[in-house]
Amino acid sequence: MVTFVSVLKYEQIKVNKALEHELAAMPAPLRDIVGHVLMAGGKRLRPLLTLLSARLFGAEGDGLYRLAVIPEMIHVATLLHDDVLDEAESRRGRKSAHLIYGTAPAILAGDALLAAASHRTASFGIPSLLTCVSEAVLMTAAGEAHEIALQHSLMHSLKEYIDIVAGKTGWLLKGSCRLGALYAGASEDEVEAVSDYGLNLGIAFQIVDDALDFADEAVTGKPTAGDLMEGKFTPPIMKYFEFLPNMDRERFREKFKSGGFSAEDRVRIAADIRRLGFDTEARAMADEYIAKAQACLDRLPHRFEQKVFREALEFVRNRKS
Ligand code: FPP
Ligand code: MG
Repeated sequence: MVTFVSVLKYEQIKVNKALEHELAAMPAPLRDIVGHVLMAGGKRLRPLLTLLSARLFGAEGDGLYRLAVIPEMIHVATLLHDDVLDEAESRRGRKSAHLIYGTAPAILAGDALLAAASHRTASFGIPSLLTCVSEAVLMTAAGEAHEIALQHSLMHSLKEYIDIVAGKTGWLLKGSCRLGALYAGASEDEVEAVSDYGLNLGIAFQIVDDALDFADEAVTGKPTAGDLMEGKFTPPIMKYFEFLPNMDRERFREKFKSGGFSAEDRVRIAADIRRLGFDTEARAMADEYIAKAQACLDRLPHRFEQKVFREALEFVRNRKS
């Protein structure tokens, strides 16, 4: 039986080859640091979305992999920058690039990858692809800026949280789907339907990601409870804060404001969140966006790729790392 994971694994081989090709074309001083994250074994979800979308609307051939690497290059650029902003210690199971190579080289490597992604996009000679990619980068940066503006505050609403994740994650998954459809010459309605699918898939993806923040580092490749230190008011933390007795809230608020949780605090709070099931409850919030994405699929051609898109929703709903 063809499952989403088998399609993902199958495509990873050619996607990784195309990424190696992009890496080899990078100027020598940037190659090691870019490669440290680019070739560290990501899921390659975004390239798969681009491939599926392009094929759903009739595009074919191995040339599609050159298109599909574009969103992954942008994604890795955001990760390089994000780990500097978040002072994160690890990524994809490896020590963060900025801790090995330094902050300035990590930022420059992200900038270079963004430029290389634009260069690759321009090489297709289709202006709408550039519009799509630049809009996705712009909205990703806007989502991240929104998050930073509210960092270390326990005041903002669930709606604001959703706006943030739609920006910082949703727009790039939307762009990944849109890119394939535009390349294949899909109709306007179809482009919008697959874009809406990607946006809702992306929101669901980040909600699940924020629930997984409380899983073991051995499973996720990222520090457990990093969001506590980073002052990100995500759904599991919202639920934990509501659960705390009044007398403990002030102390929590102080530590959340300053990022002053000790290593023991983090282990204890992560264990509490898991024991109380707040991570599971938070995951369930992704269902609303999975349902919206599912509805978008009804507006798409009923082909193999549409079925794989449907399975991607289950993959995101159930993913453990
Ligand atoms: C991960 O979130 C970060 C993002 C999804 C987006 C990061 C975006 C930027 C840094 C904007 C500027 C960069 C570019 C190139 C446009 P997270 O920190 O919650 O997740 P994590 O646990 O994986 O770090
Ligand atoms: Mg981060």
